[in-house]
Amino acid sequence: MSEKIPKYFINDLLCRTNIVDVIDSRIKLKKKGKNYQTHCPFHNDKTPSFTVSYEKQFYYCFGCNIHGNVIDFLINYEHLNFVESIEELSFMHGLSIPFEKNFIPEKNDYFKKQKLYLLTNQISKLYEKNLMLTSSAYDYLIHRGISKSMIEFFCIGFSSFTWDLFFQKLHIKKELETDLLNNKIISINKKKKIYDPFQGRITFPIHDKYGRTIGFGGRTIKEILPKYINSAETNIFYKSKQIYGLYQVKKKHLKPKYLLVVEGYIDVIMLTQNKIDYVVSSLGTSITKEQIKILFRNTNTVIYCYDGDDAGRNAAWRTLKITLPYISDEKTIKFIMLPENEDPDTIIKKEGSKNFQLRIKNALTLSKFFFKNILKGIDLSSSDDKFYLSAHALPLINSIPSDTIRIYLRQILGRTIGILDDYQFEKFLHQKTQKNKILQYKNKPTLMRTLIGLLIQNPNLSNLVNSTKQFKNSKIKGIPIFLEILKTCLEHPSFNTGQLLEFYRNSKIIHILKTLSTLDHMIVEEKIQNVFLDLLKSVYKKDLEKRQEHLISKERIYGLTINEKEEIWSINKKLKNSE
Ligand code: UTP
Ligand code: MN
Repeated sequence: MSEKIPKYFINDLLCRTNIVDVIDSRIKLKKKGKNYQTHCPFHNDKTPSFTVSYEKQFYYCFGCNIHGNVIDFLINYEHLNFVESIEELSFMHGLSIPFEKNFIPEKNDYFKKQKLYLLTNQISKLYEKNLMLTSSAYDYLIHRGISKSMIEFFCIGFSSFTWDLFFQKLHIKKELETDLLNNKIISINKKKKIYDPFQGRITFPIHDKYGRTIGFGGRTIKEILPKYINSAETNIFYKSKQIYGLYQVKKKHLKPKYLLVVEGYIDVIMLTQNKIDYVVSSLGTSITKEQIKILFRNTNTVIYCYDGDDAGRNAAWRTLKITLPYISDEKTIKFIMLPENEDPDTIIKKEGSKNFQLRIKNALTLSKFFFKNILKGIDLSSSDDKFYLSAHALPLINSIPSDTIRIYLRQILGRTIGILDDYQFEKFLHQKTQKNKILQYKNKPTLMRTLIGLLIQNPNLSNLVNSTKQFKNSKIKGIPIFLEILKTCLEHPSFNTGQLLEFYRNSKIIHILKTLSTLDHMIVEEKIQNVFLDLLKSVYKKDLEKRQEHLISKERIYGLTINEKEEIWSINKKLKNSE
């Protein structure tokens, strides 16, 4: 395997990382007793059920039962895979991953990515420099009203009309050219000439949340089609998961009150230039679920402002439909409808920043926009039209997880249709509403489950176990797992719950560990040690009783050997002592 990350490194990362900081930097946590709490980001949570424990380095939601350590959190929240989570934590601590031997850097994803980050950044700097050396490109931007400070702020650049020209003008080293070719950032065309996909284009670098350049948008400065292109997808550039301009917004506002979503690069830049500094765009494609989740992670209110043409209006309606399942009591959307044939760039140039601010202030709320659109072409005096309306509107309304907003929109719909009476309508709607079913934790705790659960949740209890000899031949279910976990806790005395789960991530018993890591044992903190010892004693006693029963029944049928007779005598004694 070329991707093996050593366990010691993962453990070292976990030691350096505080889960509370990692989660708090993404969703605000409030201290509650020993733990931290907030509304669960993984389900529509009315009361703060999401709990993070510093001591255990573990999170848990009482509502939906999601749980895990900091790596699981990154996997679930950032939609990363395991290796990417490790990369994220390593990057956070400025560490590079020491891959295990027999791995080949050129074949390793992590190294390939590091190389791509480096090269994309290098070529971006060259494009920026080249813009200043190419008056036709620079003049184009100035002519479009883009200021020098915006050119710098958004790192706008220009490729040349041919690679050879670019290569010579910027004194590019042969070695870099080879690297760029090998990493498919430039390529060789049919005429055996080196070719840069962005040649003849203004370049808009796209940054990830750390400010690393991961790809480009490019606009032609001549009348060539397509007008815009994007970099091809690579290991570091997934179009559907990126938002243009978000890195720049977050330089100014860590938690922006709004995010204004527009269609084009130039729109983002022109609005920012006009002091509207919370504008982003979705890279020219229609918005994706991943992008919506990212937007809502950064703000509570997303305002969509698409072009005033059919494409823009269709995009707005489509966006509404895919955003509905992410609406909550806190997270909402609004819409700005621009006049015919205007886009944010043209309109702000015509009417100025103040008037555009008014458009933002008067943006249509979710419900206004929803009914304005869905009532288009509907004749409310026709019962056919009313039926058509409810058949179309209901599934959309029902996709909203927030009860308050869903009920509110249903009431408006009911009133609009003029339905007979509220009771009838509610009954009709109720049948159609999909109930949010939250999985409840059902497993009944047994003696062994509680014992193992306590140990996983408090690995330092392992110190209380003097000897495990007495369990060596135990027939009690769960003892082997208990002994296994105990051994690990003793070998790694500083392990917390999060590290323990990490240790077993790919093992067969991880599911048991995960379930018991959230077992609600209801034991008060001060009593945990005593309860643990009592349980241990009970298990021991239960074990002896089992053996005793076995020997007694054997005695009746076959008789016992001398050794067995001695054993039964000693068991009796032990049981007596333990009473
Ligand atoms: P528009 O055609 O509305 O262009 O495309 P624009 O943003 O107003 O551009 P200017 O003002 O003429 O420079 C909006 C967005 O759609 C994507 C780009 O992201 C663009 O910014 N697009 C457009 C493409 O990806 N390819 C295209 O050929 C055109
Ligand atoms: Mn435009």
